[in-house]
Amino acid sequence: MKRRRFTLVRRPRGTPVAADFALVEEEVPPLAEGEFLVANRFASLDPAIRGWLDDAPSYMPPVPLGEAVRASTVGEVVTSRNPAFPVGQWVVGLNAIETHSVARGDGFTSPVDPGLVPSPTAFLSTLGAVGMTAWFGVERVLMPVHGQTLLVSAAAGAVGSLVGQLGRLRGCRTIGIAGGEAKCRRLVERYGYDAAIDHRGRDADAIAAAIRAAAPDGVDLVFENVGGACLDGALMTLRDGARIALCGLISEYNAPAPVGARNLWQLIVRKATMRGFLVSEWLAEWPEGIAAMAALLAEGKLVADEHIDRGLDQAFPAFMRLFEGGNDGKMILEIV
Ligand SMILES: NC(=O)c1ccc[n+]([C@@H]2O[C@H](COP(=O)([O-])OP(=O)(O)OC[C@H]3O[C@@H](n4cnc5c(N)ncnc54)[C@H](OP(=O)(O)O)[C@@H]3O)[C@@H](O)[C@H]2O)c1
Repeated sequence: MKRRRFTLVRRPRGTPVAADFALVEEEVPPLAEGEFLVANRFASLDPAIRGWLDDAPSYMPPVPLGEAVRASTVGEVVTSRNPAFPVGQWVVGLNAIETHSVARGDGFTSPVDPGLVPSPTAFLSTLGAVGMTAWFGVERVLMPVHGQTLLVSAAAGAVGSLVGQLGRLRGCRTIGIAGGEAKCRRLVERYGYDAAIDHRGRDADAIAAAIRAAAPDGVDLVFENVGGACLDGALMTLRDGARIALCGLISEYNAPAPVGARNLWQLIVRKATMRGFLVSEWLAEWPEGIAAMAALLAEGKLVADEHIDRGLDQAFPAFMRLFEGGNDGKMILEIV
C-alpha cells in the first residue's frame, strides 16, 4: 500500500520556500506489534512546526531530513496490531503531514469520538492543543480578575480569538492586535473585543501609542503570541504588577537570528511578571480543559473559526498563511 507524504528536503534558512519540501509517494512500512495505521483526514498547521524544521535545541527533536513534516492529525485507524486502537477507531495524535501515519498510541495519541462534534477538525482546534493553549494560558498563567484589561496579540488567530473571548467571559476589558482592517473588524464584531489595533505599518512606539489610546490606565494582562514590535509596544503600557503570558513569538520564527525584546526594563519598573509556557505542561489536566471548552461551545458562548485548505499539494502555501496573516481561524489542511 502506498502513502503520500509532505517531507522536509532541507532546513529552511529564514522564511521557508517551496523547495525546502517535497511531496513523495512511498510504500507504507509493515506494522510492528503494538502499531496501527491511521488514515489522516485533517492535519493541524501550527506555527510551532517552523521551529521543528530547525536543527536547534527545543522541546522536541527536529524533523529529520527526508521525513514527513510533524503535525497533529486526526484520522481513522485502518489497520491495527494494537488492541487498544482497533480498526474504525478515530484518533488524534502527533503524526505527520501525510495520508497515512504509523502510530503506537503513546505520547499525545488519544481515541476520539467524531460523533460528539460537528466536525473532527474540532479535535485540532477548540478541543485540541489550540483550545488548551488558550484555556490553560488564561486560567493558569494570566488568572484574570473581573475588571482587568487584557491585551492579546495575533488576536484574530486560532489561539488569540479564543483567549479574547475567554478573557471577556471572565469580565476583562479586551484589546486585540491583528493585521489589517478586516481582521480588526472581526476582533470587535465576531470575537467581542472592546478595542482593536492594526499592527500593520506600526513600530513598537506606534503600537504602544495605540494601546494607550485604548487603555489610558495601561494593561494588567498580556497574552503574547507575536513578540517583536507587539511585545515591545505592550511592555511600554503595563500597569504595576502586570502579568504577561508568553505563548509565542511568531514574528521571530523566520528571522535569521533571534530578535529579542528591547523594553524588558519595564518589567522591573512595573514589578511585572512574564511567564513562558507550553500547553503540554497541563497534559494530565487536558480532559478538564476540553470539557470546559466543549461546554462553552455547547452553550453558544464561544465562536471558533477554522480555515481549511484542501489537498496535500497545498501543504506549503497553507502553512505559509500563518506567517503572512492569510488565515482566518485555526489553520487546517484536509488530507486528500
Ligand atoms: N506555548 C504553547 O504551548 C503554544 C501552543 C500553540 C500555539 N502557540 C503560539 O501561539 C501563537 C498563535 O498560534 P496560532 O496557532 O493561534 O496561529 P494563528 O494566530 O492562527 O496564526 C498566526 C497569526 O500570527 C500573525 N502573525 C504572523 N506573523 C506576524 C508578524 N510578523 N507580526 C504580527 N503578527 C504576525 C498573523 O495574524 P495577523 O494577520 O493578525 O498579523 C497570523 O494569522 C504562535 O506564536 C504559536 O507559536 C504556543
